[in-house]
Amino acid sequence: MKTVLITGATSGIGKQLALNYAKSDWHVVACGRNKGVLAELEANENISTLAFDISIPNEVVEASKKLEQPLDMLILNAGTCEYMDDVKHFDTEMFRRVVNSNLLGTSDCLSAFLPKVKDGGQLALMGSSASFFPFTRAQAYGASKAAIAYLAQTLAVDLAPQKIAVSLVSPGFVETALTAKNDFNMPMKISVEQASDEIQKGLAKRKLHVKTPRLFTFILGLVGKLPMSFQHWLSLRMGQS
Ligand SMILES: NC(=O)c1ccc[n+]([C@@H]2O[C@H](COP(=O)([O-])OP(=O)(O)OC[C@H]3O[C@@H](n4cnc5c(N)ncnc54)[C@H](OP(=O)(O)O)[C@@H]3O)[C@@H](O)[C@H]2O)c1
Repeated sequence: MKTVLITGATSGIGKQLALNYAKSDWHVVACGRNKGVLAELEANENISTLAFDISIPNEVVEASKKLEQPLDMLILNAGTCEYMDDVKHFDTEMFRRVVNSNLLGTSDCLSAFLPKVKDGGQLALMGSSASFFPFTRAQAYGASKAAIAYLAQTLAVDLAPQKIAVSLVSPGFVETALTAKNDFNMPMKISVEQASDEIQKGLAKRKLHVKTPRLFTFILGLVGKLPMSFQHWLSLRMGQS
């Protein structure tokens, strides 16, 4: 039986991935802070759990000490999103909160759990297609996810000798608690089931870049390759509409 550790497995994409892998006869180590949901997940015979906050380095280290088995796959999915309402009065506390969870938390999880990934195994980092384009108010979220994209690409190069396949996962809009807070139009939003299914399929193929849904991420990826002046103009127009 293969083992996958998933952070952010108490809600949304991570929870659905945990249920999917458990159903596919993997042993899942589901992680999160919400102990109630972790207890529910433990009712599944293929799921064990670890409770820790990825933004508290000591908690990550202590949790990793409890993990006995080697990992076939490590999915660093936990993350948060907050928007900047008034950038002139730059909210550095909020920026630090988002970067602490999305980027530094990922770094702490890499330090603690990557040594447990078997040679020939897999690592997936949860980015976002938001980092393809300069979305209004997304300074903290977009910057953290752009950094994750770079991190994934460089890890893919340096883990190649150990045959550890590294995948960057870049979803578009997915219906979860994270997007339920959004008060703007979310084109081509997909269900958490569809997103998780496509992510699982992409990871099974050991793809470098797993994008879902295909059409939305393709269009956004194209727009993100156009001149910066055009992206700036378009983002301004979107912000005004
Ligand atoms: N939904 C989308 O449209 C979308 C699009 C692109 C990328 N993503 C990315 O996908 C990932 C999952 O998002 P989601 O939409 O599924 O959101 P979600 O439903 O809000 O789930 C977020 C998960 O992350 C965990 N988490 C957050 N902060 C944590 C912390 N400090 N320590 C430990 N766990 C923490 C939460 O667990 P606890 O509350 O139990 O701690 C929860 O399980 C995120 O990285 C997000 O940026 C989402």
